[in-house]
Amino acid sequence: MKDAANPTIYLKDYTPPSWLVEDVHLTFRLSPKATRVVSRVRFVPNAAVSDRSFFLEGEELSLIWARIDGQEVTPDITPQGLSCDVPEGPFTWEAEVEISPATNTALEGLYMSNGMYSTQCEAQGFRKITYYPDRPDVMAPFTVRIESDLPVLLSNGNKGDTGEGFAEWHDPWPKPAYLFALVAGELVNLPGDFTTRSGNKVELNIWVRPGDEDKCDFALEALKKSMVWDEEVYGREYDLDIFNIVAVDDFNMGAMENKGLNIFNSSAVLANARTATDANFERIEAIIAHEYFHNWTGNRITCRDWFQLCLKEGLTVFRDAQFTADMRSEPVKRISDVLDLRGRQFREDGGPLAHPVRPESFQEINNFYTATVYEKGAEVIGMLKRLVGDDAYARALDLYFDRHDGQACTIEDWLKVFQDATGRDLSQFKRWYSQAGTPKVVMSEAWQGDQFSVTLKQVLPATPGQSDKKPQVIPFAIGLLDRTGQEVVPTTLLELVEEEQTFTFNGLEARPVASPLRGFSAPVILERETSKADQVFLLAHDTDPFNRWEAGRQLAKSALMEMIGNGAPPDADYLDALRQLVTDDTLDPAFRALCMGLPSEDDLAQSFADMGRTPDPQAIWEGREVMRAAMAEVLSSDLMPLYDRHLVRAPYRPDAEQSGKRSLNNALLSLITRRDGGAVAQGQFADAGNMTQQMGALSALLANDLGSLELASFAEQWAHERLVMDKWFMIQVAHARPDLAAQVADALTQRPDFAMTNPNRFRAVFGALAMNQAGFHHDSGAGYRLMADWLIKLDPVNPQTTARMCSAFQTWRRYDADRQGMIRDELLRISALKGLSRDTGEMVGRILGD
Ligand code: PHE
Ligand code: ZN
Repeated sequence: MKDAANPTIYLKDYTPPSWLVEDVHLTFRLSPKATRVVSRVRFVPNAAVSDRSFFLEGEELSLIWARIDGQEVTPDITPQGLSCDVPEGPFTWEAEVEISPATNTALEGLYMSNGMYSTQCEAQGFRKITYYPDRPDVMAPFTVRIESDLPVLLSNGNKGDTGEGFAEWHDPWPKPAYLFALVAGELVNLPGDFTTRSGNKVELNIWVRPGDEDKCDFALEALKKSMVWDEEVYGREYDLDIFNIVAVDDFNMGAMENKGLNIFNSSAVLANARTATDANFERIEAIIAHEYFHNWTGNRITCRDWFQLCLKEGLTVFRDAQFTADMRSEPVKRISDVLDLRGRQFREDGGPLAHPVRPESFQEINNFYTATVYEKGAEVIGMLKRLVGDDAYARALDLYFDRHDGQACTIEDWLKVFQDATGRDLSQFKRWYSQAGTPKVVMSEAWQGDQFSVTLKQVLPATPGQSDKKPQVIPFAIGLLDRTGQEVVPTTLLELVEEEQTFTFNGLEARPVASPLRGFSAPVILERETSKADQVFLLAHDTDPFNRWEAGRQLAKSALMEMIGNGAPPDADYLDALRQLVTDDTLDPAFRALCMGLPSEDDLAQSFADMGRTPDPQAIWEGREVMRAAMAEVLSSDLMPLYDRHLVRAPYRPDAEQSGKRSLNNALLSLITRRDGGAVAQGQFADAGNMTQQMGALSALLANDLGSLELASFAEQWAHERLVMDKWFMIQVAHARPDLAAQVADALTQRPDFAMTNPNRFRAVFGALAMNQAGFHHDSGAGYRLMADWLIKLDPVNPQTTARMCSAFQTWRRYDADRQGMIRDELLRISALKGLSRDTGEMVGRILGD
């Protein structure tokens, strides 16, 4: 797309910076509408570059004055920044600018949220704070002075001088500007401490608004666990005297890893048993770990440029997944991650927004904080580890930290470390970073004499801007079972490197049952002719828990497709196998709960599209309802005994054991409610001592068109807890009947406690609408219209959140001509807006495919 104001940036155009920064001093005089920022920056020429031109990024700043080596200068200013004549050698740049945090609703740069000051600088927000080389390959130590009457004044690094109305901070570790942070407000803290294994004592704090002190304990414990884990598993210690975490209500993302001062969306840190669900606790533990782990993978070693985003994000997601698997259950974590990968990343990879794990161009980098960069980026590292083995992975990581500490690196640096540590040539493997799209692996089997052979063929789909793709390296874990369920060949890693290859197993007594792609060893779509009998067998016997779950999933999916597409009745064999599994008390309740989940509406819609059939959202919704009714029927005599057996009577703990039982019980409850008119769910709602049970009951009721009294009493009980009220907004839209979803969402937006300036609240309503597939795609078009109306309203306020929400439309090409026409009209209505943000403009343009 040609657009002068929004140029496309290319990886191939990267050039190193002309000037490097030796150190930075910043002084902030805080004031809501007129904050002054004084900067003093020591620049030195980059000897590796001959070009000496000088440009500092800066947006929406009023320059008060600027000096070079003490002499006032008059730079050339554009909306993107300033340029200026500068000396040939080192010099000191000083400038004062004025900014207005109180009117900054984009939540990028310095902004105010509920009376507190906060910053968000990744990726390119620092340029909204002052003029600076706002690029990650310019790293420097920062000294910060904050002047304000507010009681708590925080920035990166260690504490410096403090006194009446000011505080100073010094961060000795060179960092890029995107890791800068400042927080000021009337905050209270939960303090803690941690002693590193080499004996350094670290002060820890969770900072929150008064009233939230009772929701910090869990985050503090999660932080300590993360610190221990990174020492034990990766040999990484913390490197400052203090580590602060701050909760902010208005935040575009989950959290941010600013050096020594992590800033969190309050939803990703605040929790107690009464206000947060088990799923919230688990997510908080994972995000605390994720941000903490960034201290090494992201901060000490950062990215050379934003195309390398997966260098820090893929690796850090991989590390936090390892952590969660260690803290909780490995198979449960793997299954949840694969559900998420298929639900978000495969969906992205299969449509107009598909892009490589390392993109090659962008207009707005904020649009590339995607499931592909994060989750597929983590899968790529998982594959690398599988291919080289655990020991070699550990050696490679040690080498990575040794060799690159303090540097801004690329994917080439990362892969070179693995090549040097293992001697393995990774040039083919590197295609995972450059080729977009989810590979399909077609598997066929043959049996002859005592030989079982497996033929694998990889098919790489065309994606926007990429057609002719070359074979990738696909690690394919497989095990073979005999008819009694004994493993005759334990998990073996096949490496598919050609387009098509055959692998043979000799000396077998009888034809085995294959258990392919164990543990989901590669992020691919496996296509395989297989009998229902084999799937039922694997569901009952597979020794690989992931594949056991997967077998049930495939059975459920085929059954649903037959019901929806061909009017078949619910599959009795599947239901019977499911019943066996769900009632088997030797199995982890969390695992059983996952097995009770049906493929999502979106997943089914995609499967129809893959078969060349146009998905019918209403029929898909009805099919799942019929299947649920059949599940309730088949399990009818088991439901209450199972529920009673798994009721947790011990005091609430958000650990894997208890939360597994509660998730099983909530899954059972939704079936029970189908049959009993709501009595048990009403009871659970009334007695609930924790949010997991309260929400579980409410959602079971709403899913069955019951629960209006409970909904009202919930709102009354929690009116003053915004995070809990977000759940209340969300759940109504999520469970609204298809013909009412848009209406329900619309009514919610008219409430006085709906505020589009708060991304959590906006997402509660519109994220839920997008997830309610039958409602969003209702043939009236009301869902599309409401979504577009609000994206149009939100864009001038908060472009980042608007752009992310546009992905609701990314699957539009799957649908029938009427729906496509309606969606296209809405997308065109958005793109025609005067002053549309670069963020939203790029997203809508890519979705439309121009
Ligand atoms: N870097 C953050 C993380 O992954 C995410 C983030 C990106 C937050 C951009 C804010 C803005 O942990
Ligand atoms: Zn991250």
